[in-house]
Amino acid sequence: MNGTMNDNWTGKAAIVTGGAQGIGKAITLRLLQAGASVMIADQDREAGEETIAEYQALKQIKVGQVKFVQTDVSDEASVQSMTQQTIQSFDRLDLLVNNAGIAHPSNDPIEQLSLEHWNRMLAVNLTGAFLCAKYAVPHLRSQGGAIINIASTRAAMSEPNTEAYSATKGGLVALTHALANSLGPEIRVNCISPGWIAVSEWQKKSKRRPPQIREADQQQHPVGRVGKPEDVADMVLYLASEQAGFITGVNIAIDGGMTHKMIYLED
Ligand SMILES: NC(=O)c1ccc[n+]([C@@H]2O[C@H](COP(=O)([O-])OP(=O)(O)OC[C@H]3O[C@@H](n4cnc5c(N)ncnc54)[C@H](O)[C@@H]3O)[C@@H](O)[C@H]2O)c1
Repeated sequence: MNGTMNDNWTGKAAIVTGGAQGIGKAITLRLLQAGASVMIADQDREAGEETIAEYQALKQIKVGQVKFVQTDVSDEASVQSMTQQTIQSFDRLDLLVNNAGIAHPSNDPIEQLSLEHWNRMLAVNLTGAFLCAKYAVPHLRSQGGAIINIASTRAAMSEPNTEAYSATKGGLVALTHALANSLGPEIRVNCISPGWIAVSEWQKKSKRRPPQIREADQQQHPVGRVGKPEDVADMVLYLASEQAGFITGVNIAIDGGMTHKMIYLED
């Protein structure tokens, strides 16, 4: 084992899908701080270019250590080209983080839920992870790399009218254990299910807002607060590290305890 979990990424390379904003932007920063080169694969060019400029201005980030390629993860040609550009840029691939997603359930009741919306949700949130894995695997295999899928606690619990989103996240959990069995021992594949993560300050400038979180929202969590993107990013770094070498196929909730909290109403 090499030192601490954060110090062994120099010379290694990662793809973070949806890495231009939100949780993916925090994952990208943690990987860069640990020394990795990172390709941000995001469909939002404005957000991608802003994030590159912001991170490239940080003293500890080397020129060319972080790159952006506009990518739609649901489009096979786009994913194939993004993967090729990553290898051309960094000569290797050690980690794929499948984070890109349509991050909010639509709340349409099933009778009004359009097939078009259902199909788009599946294409981005689930097929996107399949496509990125498909093209990354040959490169990851030669490095003994890792894949981390970002699902949601909604894979295991629901509010009404969230069928499409929840189904995609349940699919990601299943894709994780299937891939772990197919790709071991060379590649470990794990999943993180975030709960409520406040991302408004991690959006591109035109959408950036201070978080609007009530005290009751914080206090309902057993840990006394909602989540931060860094909470998820730290777990990505751990799961990708050698310290996690005996962990594959699992889904870890980063949710402040909410999936283990009884919520029956009291009189
Ligand atoms: N924020 C939360 O509370 C929360 C909770 C559970 C799970 N998640 C999951 O975490 C992931 C990140 O969520 P977030 O809250 O940071 O969302 P976000 O909307 O802040 O960021 C998502 C990023 O993905 C990109 N993206 C969307 N569709 C894409 C596509 N087709 N191809 C490439 N990039 C695409 C967006 O441009 C954006 O930059 C998502 O998969 C989401 O479902 C978030």
